[in-house]
Amino acid sequence: MQQTTFTYSDYEEAVQVIFERTSLRPKIAIILGSGLGPLADEVENPTIIPTNEIPHWPRSTVHGHKGRLVIGYIENQPVMVMQGRVHYYEGYSMQQVTFPIRVMQLMGIETLIVTNAAGGINTSFSAGDLMLIEDHINLLGHMGHNALIGPNDERLGERFPIFTVTYDKALREHTMRVARELNIHLQKGVYLCLSGPAFETPAEIRMFRAWGADAVGMSTAPEVTVARHGGIRVLGISSITNISIDHQDVQRDVSHEEVLEVGAKIVPNLMKLIRGVLQNMP
Ligand code: HPA
Repeated sequence: MQQTTFTYSDYEEAVQVIFERTSLRPKIAIILGSGLGPLADEVENPTIIPTNEIPHWPRSTVHGHKGRLVIGYIENQPVMVMQGRVHYYEGYSMQQVTFPIRVMQLMGIETLIVTNAAGGINTSFSAGDLMLIEDHINLLGHMGHNALIGPNDERLGERFPIFTVTYDKALREHTMRVARELNIHLQKGVYLCLSGPAFETPAEIRMFRAWGADAVGMSTAPEVTVARHGGIRVLGISSITNISIDHQDVQRDVSHEEVLEVGAKIVPNLMKLIRGVLQNMP
């Protein structure tokens, strides 16, 4: 039985194991979403740490999520790439889902680049698009599954953190500039976080669209919530792996295989964008 809540010293233990494996002290971390794992192969001079060798780290159970940290360089920037996240729908507690973020915080990570696979709700989106996350709707969080519920450790952040600007404005502007320069088509929008693992009904999709969501997914908001609580600035990019179905008389269905397949096709563009972002990071 894995531990479901953690203390400050649990996070410190994990940090210690990571720091014993590498002398690099990256300030930037990148989380790779479903199907986006191959980005980790781009890390130069990598130290690879299987996350099952890190104390307390939750084990990923989902196909397409490998479970390792790759620490090295991309574009001459020291980075820590997390390949394989865990999700709330796997049965983990919110503290387990966000354990890696606390470890990052205590490692001294200042910037988190978070990626995910998402279903497109905005009718101008196509499968294969990239979307810059401008803001999110943490539906899961506001339904009583917020990662910050429970005793607040003041060393990690304040009791009532502010979420007016969650995705760093300077990083977003920088990313849009980079996308323009590289001729990468970059959509912008609001990411809505659901628990999953059930995909959405068409009625739900129509409702989420009316709420102002542009894409839906099953991750990211818990991690970003904890990152912001811990003072880490965040850049978020969604891969639109499928277009969410908003009426019943359609001939096709979404599947996890499709998410992985389209995710893999988006990797080259996403890598180009992330490389560009890292080159002259503000
Ligand atoms: N819904 C929820 N999560 C997803 C989807 C989707 O359509 N595609 C990729 N992740």
